Amino acid sequence: MEVYGACNIKGGSGKSSLILNLARRRYELEQQRGTPRHITFIDLDEFQSSSIALTAMGLGGEGESAAIHCPIIPRRPVLDTMLVEIEDANPDAIVFVDTPANSTELLSQLAVNANKVFVPVLPDPMSRTMLIPTLDVIRRAQKVNPALEVHAVLIGVSHNRRRLVQQAVDAVNETGVPLAATHIPDRVSITGNFGQHVSHPEYNALYTELFGGNA
Ligand SMILES: Nc1ncnc2c1ncn2[C@@H]1O[C@H](COP(=O)(O)OP(=O)(O)O)[C@@H](O)[C@H]1O
Ligand SMILES: [Mg+2]
Repeated sequence: MEVYGACNIKGGSGKSSLILNLARRRYELEQQRGTPRHITFIDLDEFQSSSIALTAMGLGGEGESAAIHCPIIPRRPVLDTMLVEIEDANPDAIVFVDTPANSTELLSQLAVNANKVFVPVLPDPMSRTMLIPTLDVIRRAQKVNPALEVHAVLIGVSHNRRRLVQQAVDAVNETGVPLAATHIPDRVSITGNFGQHVSHPEYNALYTELFGGNA
């Protein structure tokens, strides 16, 4: 099983847009293979914006037969348990996890179990500031999961935000976490558009950078 997730303790930092696009891209790449691996999307946010967007894109659904399986999440989700159940059913599953704002507990459960986590950073002071507590949780998890990779991704980049973008780049560089060279431009938001803008070349390029050329 492979597990990937998006996390930033700050809400509205681009987690859902990022992780659902990476899951969508992985699904497309798996479909190009002879024996596509099954993808599960765990949307831990009670607002369900990413699983709703995936469903609006015709990819998600609660049933096992959906292209990307978005299981129903219990009221007080325990990610560890959910992952064990998924792996028991299919050791070859690929799991993408979206996390809610302000839950260090779920973030910690994700980071302890994940292969890679991605930290989106919008060029605004709050998103930058919350990098530090987010990375604190991730670094604690790395003590039990030393193989965990962490990448920061800049989201919402535009010319008229140049100074804020530079401040965000500086803030990430100060933490020592690698920053993806592919930046996501302003207004490439899927959750904000209810899945109307299905495919973004920037997210596909980002996928290639974060996962390599292969699926
Ligand atoms: N590429 C982007 N450019 C500008 N704003 C974005 C972008 N992606 C997301 N956003 C903004 O951030 C808001 C939250 O995005 P979302 O992915 O739902 O973040 P989170 O899951 O962290 O709450 C969106 O409604 C949108 O306003
Ligand atoms: Mg979200």
